[in-house]
Amino acid sequence: VRVRTYPAEERWGVVWVFVGDMEPPPLDEDVPIEHFRGSVCMLNVQVWRHNWRDGMENTADMMHPQALHRHAPFMWFTRMPVWGTMGAVETARGKGVGIYYKRVGGYEAEFPGLGTLSNNAWRKYPALERRMVYDFSKAERGEVEGVAFPKELRLPCWRILNTRAGAFLEGMVPVDAHSTRRFSFTFRDLRGPSALLFKLYYYLYLQWCRDRLFMGEDRWALERLKPGPERIYSNDVGVLAWRELSKRARGAWKSSDRAQPAPDTKVSTTG
Ligand SMILES: [Fe+2]
Repeated sequence: VRVRTYPAEERWGVVWVFVGDMEPPPLDEDVPIEHFRGSVCMLNVQVWRHNWRDGMENTADMMHPQALHRHAPFMWFTRMPVWGTMGAVETARGKGVGIYYKRVGGYEAEFPGLGTLSNNAWRKYPALERRMVYDFSKAERGEVEGVAFPKELRLPCWRILNTRAGAFLEGMVPVDAHSTRRFSFTFRDLRGPSALLFKLYYYLYLQWCRDRLFMGEDRWALERLKPGPERIYSNDVGVLAWRELSKRARGAWKSSDRAQPAPDTKVSTTG
């Protein structure tokens, strides 16, 4: 009897198994290693009923929080502009896409046919606005290494949400065509009583308020997606950039081809 074996490694509370046919890359090259550091690592694993690709593209859509998450307790004190213009740039030496606001819109706007969308609740103090503001002048100049984008997608399966407190990372692994196992990691470099306090904060607040309630809204939307004709608009630049990047995953598409469209690219944009 012969049983096929796969290279495996246990780190950060997870057993990592490479099931591909190619030579397995070192684990440090396959995770956004610059964020995988800190003495405290909190892990949350959930299986959601959605296709892996939709889950990754949900992250690339930077404008959905304005609608989907505007009432989430986790966002109660965060002012979000109700509209903006998105930009996307390649990061991590061709392994990632950073997504950012090129232009930040107002906190209230009238959307014809839909009504008024406001993010001007009493609790959204302007003083907290800085939480949404990053210095993207470097991104505009093309100097992207070391820039903390609000969101970044990284090959092969990573979504990175950057906050002032640190990065929130999620690795999405397809279970089958209709479900995805999502591993979320929260790292902090704390020791002693500070580490204990953070663990309490995680279990008493972050785990239910962010990982269950806030992310639960994404889960609600993703699990109700119906296949059909796609409508892409100008702020989906992150989605399109991620799709282009995915075609080069695992060296499938040579870096010298980067300037050319992939053979089966057929995307129309509106708006
Ligand atoms: Fe979301």
